[in-house]
Amino acid sequence: MALVSVAHLLQEADREGYAIGAFNTNNMEIVQAIVEAAEAEQAPVILQASQGAISYAGLDYITGLVSIAASRATVPIALHLDHGTSFAQVVQCIRSGFSSVMYDGSKLPLEENIAMTLKVLEIARPVGVSVEAELGKIGGTEDDITVDEHEALFTDPEEAKYFVKQTGVDSLAVAIGTAHGQYKGEPRLDLPRLEKIRALTGVPIVLHGSSGVPDETIKEAIRLGVRKVNIDTNIRETFVGAMRREIENNPQEIDPRKILGPARKAIVEIIREKIRLFSLKHRT
Ligand code: G3H
Ligand code: 13P
Ligand code: ZN
Repeated sequence: MALVSVAHLLQEADREGYAIGAFNTNNMEIVQAIVEAAEAEQAPVILQASQGAISYAGLDYITGLVSIAASRATVPIALHLDHGTSFAQVVQCIRSGFSSVMYDGSKLPLEENIAMTLKVLEIARPVGVSVEAELGKIGGTEDDITVDEHEALFTDPEEAKYFVKQTGVDSLAVAIGTAHGQYKGEPRLDLPRLEKIRALTGVPIVLHGSSGVPDETIKEAIRLGVRKVNIDTNIRETFVGAMRREIENNPQEIDPRKILGPARKAIVEIIREKIRLFSLKHRT
């Protein structure tokens, strides 16, 4: 099956009230595991590549791996640029075959973020590539900031309304209390803010930093309009945990396949669980 755009998947999810899992990938094993999990659940899935993934594996390797996996799959698959930082990179990803891009202008002043997002939309729309934008600053769990400082970086609902009206972007990543990486305590999400943003914008909302957010909170966020849920850290933890176990149990092992194979198998299971959590099947 050819790659589909994220907007296409999110429109369908929006009609039915569920969310699509967007899983970060960096290598062949993770690509294979994500697609195996989606096939097993018979659910659409988004594979996404971060800045780190692109510099680690190379854009052409990522596109090549995901295209091969998608060509064999029976479920719809999207390839998405995660936190794109420059117009040039967006162009490179579209040319390479990505079906969706995120342009993350959240560090820019509002009007500059709008102008850059419009520039990206102008080249992406004509070739059927969808665009995700970010408003507010999501940040990382390692950021050393107080709760008050953290809230000051949250997405402002009125600003979100203005941003979406000015750009017509396909989906919006919001800052409502999640952060990238491993949480030290339990994350507290500002769900009333999410509800307000959704009501004022009407667009599918993207939740970043979703690893470590309790299942019940994820379900509630989906009920309030989250349609794309980004997961990376949970994959890293499980993948490396399984590798570590294999090495500790078999210290003489020198065949990388004997270490990476079980790691690949281990992440299939957690990705399946996430897909079930985000999908209608679980939402009885
Ligand atoms: O959004 C951030 C990703 O979870 C990780 O990014 O691959 O560049 O470390 P990275
Ligand atoms: P986590 O690594 O916290 O799951 O966040 C992933 C993400 O938001 C990628 O953009
Ligand atoms: Zn993110």
